[in-house]
Amino acid sequence: MDSIEIKGGTPLQGTIQVSGAKNAALPLLASALLPHGESTFTNVPDLVDVRTMGKLLRHIGCEVSGDRSISIRPPASDPKGAPYELVKTMRASVLVLGPLVARYGYARVSLPGGCAIGARPIDQHLKGLRLMGAEVILEHGYVECKAKRLRGAMIVFDMPTVTGCENLMMAAALADGTTILENAAREPEIEELAFVLNKMGARIQGAGTSVIKIEGVEKLEPIEHAIMPDRIEAGTFLVAGAATRGDLYVRGARPDHLDAVLAKLRRAGAKIEVDAEGIRVRAEGRFQSMDITTQPHPGFPTDMQAQFMALAAIADGQSIIKEQIFENRFMHVSELARMGADIQTDGRVAVVRGVAGLSGAEVMATDLRASASLVIAGLVAEGTTKVQRVYHLDRGYEHIEAKLQAVGAQIQRVP
Ligand code: EPZ
Repeated sequence: MDSIEIKGGTPLQGTIQVSGAKNAALPLLASALLPHGESTFTNVPDLVDVRTMGKLLRHIGCEVSGDRSISIRPPASDPKGAPYELVKTMRASVLVLGPLVARYGYARVSLPGGCAIGARPIDQHLKGLRLMGAEVILEHGYVECKAKRLRGAMIVFDMPTVTGCENLMMAAALADGTTILENAAREPEIEELAFVLNKMGARIQGAGTSVIKIEGVEKLEPIEHAIMPDRIEAGTFLVAGAATRGDLYVRGARPDHLDAVLAKLRRAGAKIEVDAEGIRVRAEGRFQSMDITTQPHPGFPTDMQAQFMALAAIADGQSIIKEQIFENRFMHVSELARMGADIQTDGRVAVVRGVAGLSGAEVMATDLRASASLVIAGLVAEGTTKVQRVYHLDRGYEHIEAKLQAVGAQIQRVP
C-alpha cells in the first residue's frame, strides 16, 4: 500500500494543469450504453474510478478501448448486469442502471451499500424509475429493473441528487413521452451530460436549473466529446496554492464552475485573478477565518469542505464549517488534529480555531477528499508528513504528486 511523503514549507509556484472531470467522466462513459454504435471521449482523466467504470462496461458486454481517449461500443443485446464486486468499490457504478433499462428494458445492478462518508441510498433513483413504469425488485443486495419501454413522468426529487438526476435524465432520453425532473441538482456535470445526450439526439432542456424537461426519442446516435475540466481538482490546487502562500496558475480551471470556492478564497485573503485559460491564486501572510456551509450547486461544494478545513486550520480566529450534504464527512478532522489543528466537531458542525502552524505527522487517508486535505496540510506543515492509504487519493486525482512536484512541492510516493 503506497503512501505519500511531504516535506512542508515550500510555496507552490508556477503552472499546474487541470485534468478531465472525474464526476463528468463517470456518467458520460455510462451514457455510451444508450446509442447504437461506438462513442469516443477524449481528455479522460487517468483515475482508478474511471478504470473501474471501464471494467464495469466491459463486464456488461461493451467493447471498451483506449485510456486518455476511450471508445465504447455497447452490446447489440443481452447486456450483463453490475456485480457486487465492482459496485462495492465505486458507488457511481449505479449510473449504468438508467441507461440499461432505457436501452435494453432490463438491468440487474448491485446495490451500492454505504461508503465512508455516509449511507448514500439510491431511493430517489428507484422512485424515478418506478414513476416511469419500471418494475423495480430489490432482493439479495441487488436491484432488478424491467420495462418494455419507459414512459415519461413527473418526478420531484426529495433532495437534489447528482447521480440520481443523471441516471433519470439518461433513462428519460429514450422514454415514450416527456419527463420533468423537479428539484433537480444543478451541478455543471449535469449540464455536461445533457449537452452530450443532446449531441446524441436527445431533447433535453433546463439542465443546470432545478427543472429539467426531457422529451423521449426513439434512438440515439454515437458521438465524440472532450470531457470538461475537473472543478474539484482545480479548487483543490487553488487552496493548496493559497495555503502554501505561493503564486500558482491553475490552467483549465473555469471560474464559472467555482464561484462559491473563489468567494471563500478571497474572504480568506487570497488574491484571485481569472483569464480565459485559467485562474491565478496568490497569498502571503496570515489568513482570515471563514465560515462554510456545504450546499448543492451553486452553493459551496461538499467536495471542497475538507480542503478548506486545512486552510481554516492555519487562519486567524475561528471558522465554523457545516457539512449539510453527508452525515459523516469529518474523518479528516482527527488526522488534522494529529498535525496540531484545533478542531471541535458536534454532528455536522466543526469549529476550527486557527493555530500558528501545523507540524508534520504520520496520518491516514480515509476518503478521497479527506486525503486531499491531508496533502494540503502536509504542504504547509513544519517537517515531514506521511499520508497512508493513498489509494483513496488515486480515485480522484491524476498523478497528484507529479503535478505538485512540478510547482515546487517536496512530495514523493513511497511504496
Ligand atoms: C455525487 O455523489 C458526487 N459523485 C460526489 O462526489 C458528491 O460529493 C455528491 O454528488 C454531492 O455533490 C459523483 O458525481 C460520481 P448525491 P452522489 O446523490 O450523486 C442523498 C467525490 O468526492 N441521497 O448528490 O452519490 C445522499 O445520501 C464524490 O468526487 C438520498 O438520500 O451524491 C446525500 O446525502 C463524493 N437518496 C445527498 O442526497 C438518493 O437516492 C446528496 O447525494 C440519492 C441521494
